[in-house]
Amino acid sequence: MKLWGGRFSENLNTLAARMNSSLAFDQRLAEVDIRGSKAWAKALAGAGILSQEELELLLQGLEKVADEFKGSKFVFQESDEDIHTAVERRLKEFIGPLAGKLHTGRSRNDQVATDFRLWMLETIPHLDGQLKELQGTLIERAERDMGALLPGYTHMQQAQPVLLSHWWLWQFWMLQRDRDRLMNLVEETSVLPLGCGALAGSSFPVDRFALATELGFRRPFPNSLDAVSDRDFAAGFLFWAALLGVHLSRLSEALIIYSSREFGFIRLSDAFSTGSSLMPQKKNPDLLELTRAQSGKLIGLLTGLLAVLKGLPSAYDKDLQEDKPAVFEAADRLADSLAVLSGLIATLEINAGRMRAAIDPQMMATDLADYLVRKGVPFRQAHEAVGAAVQKAEASGKPLSMLPLETWQEIHPAFESDILEAFSAEISVKNRVAYGGTAPQEVLEQLALARQVLG
Ligand code: ARG
Repeated sequence: MKLWGGRFSENLNTLAARMNSSLAFDQRLAEVDIRGSKAWAKALAGAGILSQEELELLLQGLEKVADEFKGSKFVFQESDEDIHTAVERRLKEFIGPLAGKLHTGRSRNDQVATDFRLWMLETIPHLDGQLKELQGTLIERAERDMGALLPGYTHMQQAQPVLLSHWWLWQFWMLQRDRDRLMNLVEETSVLPLGCGALAGSSFPVDRFALATELGFRRPFPNSLDAVSDRDFAAGFLFWAALLGVHLSRLSEALIIYSSREFGFIRLSDAFSTGSSLMPQKKNPDLLELTRAQSGKLIGLLTGLLAVLKGLPSAYDKDLQEDKPAVFEAADRLADSLAVLSGLIATLEINAGRMRAAIDPQMMATDLADYLVRKGVPFRQAHEAVGAAVQKAEASGKPLSMLPLETWQEIHPAFESDILEAFSAEISVKNRVAYGGTAPQEVLEQLALARQVLG
């Protein structure tokens, strides 16, 4: 049985049917498809197309189909072209020709766009919950690791010491923006296409505002052409996914580096590491590498969909069927990697001693310049003076902190014997007191803010 068999006298070629079918991926829309159909049946009854009795029979039939999906008892048939066809076919088997009234004034074009949006509106809170969980893990880490000092890098060169907790909270805020973007997507997705038919609108006077309320949408599309062709919400979701993927990749890359023997700042738990089949000593950060690689896939899914969309001239084109595998894949990948990362971060061990020992005295060069600034020296001069000291230390092969006081005073008379204090990484960190800085009391306030934002 084909929904559109009337004008055809020959069956669809087998390979063509296989290529045409979207059932392999759109069967996950079964539940929302049936929900949409129930609402549509009510709208048809409201418009006087179905009697109350017919409506009851349709709703009961749809409930039976839904039960089969819930119990994993639904059996697909070769002729089922997509989930919409499959549901209608089964409905007809349950209630007979009355099933044929359900599609009045509706097209699969407005139907699939509605189903897809319903699916997304249902999926977003799950992904948001997972993001929230990972954020919670980062907050716990920031609390647990409070006090540990980390060499901070720019250009991957040692720059200034920071609190490790400050670093964990950086990741927290990055994810907070991902969550904000996800919430904006809800708004964009929550516009109802149903009742727009194939492209021109429905010729039956269905109340699309009531239909929107019934299905939990904020409003119906005011333009039927736009309703069936708009996939901005899918592209927006994929952009969200790609950017989140990039964030997770950056985090993963840093953890990979920090877990290397040369750094030795962190140790991954066995539960989130893998071994080598050849080298017995190896403990590999495979999961972090996969998260890093995954960002490439997610970027590809976004560019792939944009490329699909860019040539579509009018309303619905079958190209749009390619929207769903991309979005489903992105959602599935992120659901997995967010959960894994949360576990991996919660269980990793830090080596605060290694981090502290890695902080070279040169990392306090800015503090030495600030020391002169506090004595009234203009910052540019101070910068120059400390630069000269760094050059002298490097030429003599000594750490900066081992230069004798005379040398400092030769470089600039404002250097005095209390200069050694400026070499303390702890004091360096303590001095970063402006809002957003890494001073311990600032980080504690930031932590409180993060907790409040997390709710
Ligand atoms: N399986 C199709 C899709 O995913 C459903 C819409 C088909 N519409 C059509 N006119 N052939 O987009």
